[in-house]
Amino acid sequence: MKPISYRPAFSLFCASLVLLSLWINSEKILGLRITSDPDSTLCPQVEPLFPTAHAELSKRLDTMYFSETFKSSSYQLLGASVQIPTESYDDLLPVGQDDRWDVFKTFNIYLEGAFPLIYSTLKVITVNTYGLVLHWQGSDATLKPLLLTAHQDVVPVDWSNEDKWVHPPYSGSYDGTWIWGRGSVDDKADLIAQLITVNSLLEAGFQPRRTVVLAFGFDEEASGTEGAEKLAAFLEERYGKNAFAMILDEGEGYAENVKEGTIFALPGVSEKGYFDASIEILAPGGHSSIPPEHTSIGLLSLLIVSLEANPHLPRLTRNGTAFAAAKCAVEHAPEGRFPHSMKDLAHRAMNAHDEIALEKFSKALFSSIPFFDVLSHTTQAVDLITGGIKTNMLPQRAGAIVNHRIAEHSSTLEVKNHIKDLVLPFATRYNLSVQAFGEDIHCGHKISRLGKIVLSDAFYSALEPSPITPIAENHLYDVLSGTIKSTLQSSSRYEADGVVVSPSLGLGNTDTRFYWNLTENIFRYSHRGDRDDVYNGMHTINEALRGDAFIEEIRFFTMLILNVDESH
Ligand SMILES: *[C@@H]1O[C@H](CO)[C@@H](O)[C@H](O)[C@H]1NC(C)=O
Ligand SMILES: *[C@@H]1O[C@H](CO)[C@@H](O)[C@H](O)[C@H]1NC(C)=O
Ligand SMILES: *[C@@H]1O[C@H](CO)[C@@H](O)[C@H](O)[C@H]1NC(C)=O
Ligand SMILES: [Zn+2]
Repeated sequence: MKPISYRPAFSLFCASLVLLSLWINSEKILGLRITSDPDSTLCPQVEPLFPTAHAELSKRLDTMYFSETFKSSSYQLLGASVQIPTESYDDLLPVGQDDRWDVFKTFNIYLEGAFPLIYSTLKVITVNTYGLVLHWQGSDATLKPLLLTAHQDVVPVDWSNEDKWVHPPYSGSYDGTWIWGRGSVDDKADLIAQLITVNSLLEAGFQPRRTVVLAFGFDEEASGTEGAEKLAAFLEERYGKNAFAMILDEGEGYAENVKEGTIFALPGVSEKGYFDASIEILAPGGHSSIPPEHTSIGLLSLLIVSLEANPHLPRLTRNGTAFAAAKCAVEHAPEGRFPHSMKDLAHRAMNAHDEIALEKFSKALFSSIPFFDVLSHTTQAVDLITGGIKTNMLPQRAGAIVNHRIAEHSSTLEVKNHIKDLVLPFATRYNLSVQAFGEDIHCGHKISRLGKIVLSDAFYSALEPSPITPIAENHLYDVLSGTIKSTLQSSSRYEADGVVVSPSLGLGNTDTRFYWNLTENIFRYSHRGDRDDVYNGMHTINEALRGDAFIEEIRFFTMLILNVDESH
């Protein structure tokens, strides 16, 4: 997963797990009990959900999943997929015009060879050559299909660091604990686990009542425009608007650093928006022995100072994801993590008339866990700066790019206006003319001799904050939560005294940014613990996944397909 533009987002994603871990931390308690509290007003929790009509099938598969033959063949399937280096690059030309895409052909051929039963039973459709849609027809056409998604591509390996990998970057080898290599986690773990699940269900003779569709993009780590964007158009055309019961894509997992006993699972229910603002100052050139008071570089510096002095302010809204996550944190965090008054304050803050309580709650929350401040405001970061070409020459151009992650309650328009509101008085003061996002603005001087400020969308990658998947009284959120709990509870891996499912907000964007029209129930969740997928970092050297975590993913997808199949 990655933001729209160039920087790795997974590190951002993981940041929230890390930060949550900070308050889930002390003594380990043996034996997994499950927190279920449907009556909690702050953070209602459902019971673990096990298949009933398919109970016997579910048990049979589970037994098989724990067998050594199944494990080693699964590790082998994931490892072999890792060996195909499906790297995506920011500068790829469209499919058909760039032979760096050819490796996806190899990958597709691999999948077909590895899962012959799937390819002969499901309807397999390719979209834009390498995008894959697998349609598993259910017997009841009145039920909306379940859509599971993942991406085939990986971020490139930095070969200058090759010697720092414990196993070669594309080894795909299993060392007895870990499956190694780029893509072993992000995102071939999800993709191959979904296929192994479907294959196992087919072999067991399962016939779905509800149609199941799998869709695999192939440039999520770049722009997504060749893969998911084309898949989205196909899916909307073939199935219709709002045609799916739910979409499950990659995302956060669960914080398993359970010294205090509670596992927090964090399905993502929305994503921040994205905007790279370009700020350029154009000024007359000249010899630097007769400089003006400020060169374009000096002016840009002043403007950046003003921008940083005026950050977007955090705002906790009652209907936002940060507030929902905060209520879960307050309700279920271990004793002592928050001030004693927090629960009471949270209850009062829920009351639409008690603005003072909401204000107090925000303040206390941000100071207890600063990460909630990040979730609650549009962040801005000046990431790039250019200007000047030679000493003795006045710089005719200076430019900066400011990266924004837009809060749920805001918009790209609000971000543009925020910059504009700072720039206009500045332009007047320094006698500059302004072109703001395509619009010419004259600040008292039609064409300034002194220069011009140009504001624009740097890479045309602007993205509004996503719609928020509802969680209150949403049956499908309950099915997902119940499945997470039943998968954890019936596993022998955990020593914790509870599982809490809490909604989370993505700071980066996944392929789901193209899928908004397909359903209102979009969840971003990969069933892995925070000890399972970070051996040494991600999107970096030594990507590796714990083998038994991979089996847990397969158990999760199996339980989910069966549970969704049984639900109405
Ligand atoms: C959420 O609340 C904010 C302010 O409290 C409001 O402006 C916004 O329209 C609400 N959004 C939804 C989807 O209800
Ligand atoms: C800016 O413009 C005003 C008139 O609009 C003029 O009085 C002032 O001298 C100008 N300043 C500079 C630095 O050119
Ligand atoms: C979603 O639907 C709207 C309205 O029909 C359309 O304009 C838009 O392009 C669609 N979005 C995507 C990502 O397909
Ligand atoms: Zn990913």
